[in-house]
Amino acid sequence: FVAQIAYRPEVPSTNDWALELAREGGHRLPLLVLASQQTQGRGRGTNRWWSAPGALTFSLLLDSGSVQPDTRALPQVSVVAALATCETLASVAPDQRVGLKWPNDVLLGRRKVCGILVESPARPPDRLVIGIGINVNNSCAEAPDDVRQRAASLADATGRPWALTDVLIRVLRALEQQLASLKAGRVRLSEACRPWCVLTSRTVVISAGSGRTEGICAGIDDDGALLV
Ligand code: BTN
Repeated sequence: FVAQIAYRPEVPSTNDWALELAREGGHRLPLLVLASQQTQGRGRGTNRWWSAPGALTFSLLLDSGSVQPDTRALPQVSVVAALATCETLASVAPDQRVGLKWPNDVLLGRRKVCGILVESPARPPDRLVIGIGINVNNSCAEAPDDVRQRAASLADATGRPWALTDVLIRVLRALEQQLASLKAGRVRLSEACRPWCVLTSRTVVISAGSGRTEGICAGIDDDGALLV
């Protein structure tokens, strides 16, 4: 699945590096962009992503046509990346309660263990970056106060360290399968998300611009949108 790997011990953000490599061109795709440590990890919007040594932080640079014929359907890519992570964590730690909080947070219990940031560069337009950060061996005890309240790590939850490469390979395999199914039109996201979606049946409040909508979540639909 991965045709080439770009690795550095430390980078500000693997997504930023992947976007830079996309602009440069000349790489075999999918390109795995991997760092042992990120110093300025980015989250959605203006959010930052805390990471410490022991976390898994990587981005995949793909040809968007190889994943999804229609780039308007990026939300689906985010959701399948979250599904791949849910499946991986549930397979390595079957005693843990793994959940998907729409659009693409993965939870262990009630706390966030993984964040996903999917971006498509303006140039070249036919590229896609899927950035995934998973708290694996980093302990949330070391996280800043605001993060510590809401974050989980696999090692904290299971009481033992994990082989990072093993977790990485499992996520990539699951992602390869999910992306192939998406491309082939075989994924029914509403069904695939049902076992994982933690918001289903809960009251949710959606803020969009100046509007605010409150309702009961009925799951995730086949477009990757939240059903309220
Ligand atoms: C979020 O929760 O808002 C998304 C967080 C995404 C973090 C990952 S870590 C690897 C990749 N590089 C980044 O700068 N961000 C993503």
